[in-house]
Amino acid sequence: MSIAIVYASKHGTTAKVAARIADALGGAILIDLNATPSPDLSGFDAVVVGGPVYAGHGTAQVKTFAAARAAELATKPLALFAVGMEPDPAKREAEIADNFPESLRAHALGSWFVGGEFLFENMGFFEKAIIKRIAHTSESVSAIDDDAISALVQAVRSAQAR
Ligand SMILES: Cc1cc2nc3c(=O)[nH]c(=O)nc-3n(C[C@H](O)[C@H](O)[C@H](O)COP(=O)(O)O)c2cc1C
Repeated sequence: MSIAIVYASKHGTTAKVAARIADALGGAILIDLNATPSPDLSGFDAVVVGGPVYAGHGTAQVKTFAAARAAELATKPLALFAVGMEPDPAKREAEIADNFPESLRAHALGSWFVGGEFLFENMGFFEKAIIKRIAHTSESVSAIDDDAISALVQAVRSAQAR
């Protein structure tokens, strides 16, 4: 079964998560929406889609892709993930919902919030100021949730076995 992992990343963490998922699945094709905004998914049996959250919202790349391709994505086993540093479970759910339309979430094997990172070395001046203020730190921090990644991978594997 060939699997596509479609993502967009601003500072690199979603790309890192996508690569971890690909490794854990024992090989999948990584498709960066920044390089390929309208990928051909016809050859793939299953698709994983993920993107980061900024100021409560998904990025245009992922939201546009998910909305435009919802009908096609709903024909394949699908797993969704959002990358972010929001600790509140209700807000995390809202951030997932902002990224992916309800129809896709209803069809998907699941939607996972997989944590994220604050990478100060990759932030611009204003981003640094915002994160210093809300997170009270100026040190980079990694809080990728490996258990959530494992749960997503397990769901895709189970769909593969069917
Ligand atoms: C300016 C800024 C705003 C952010 N706002 C949110 C937010 O509202 N909710 C959230 O869960 N994470 C938020 N984050 C955390 C990012 O989602 C996190 O850094 C993520 O790992 C970025 O992924 P990327 O490197 O793939 O772009 C914010 C980060 C920055 C720098």
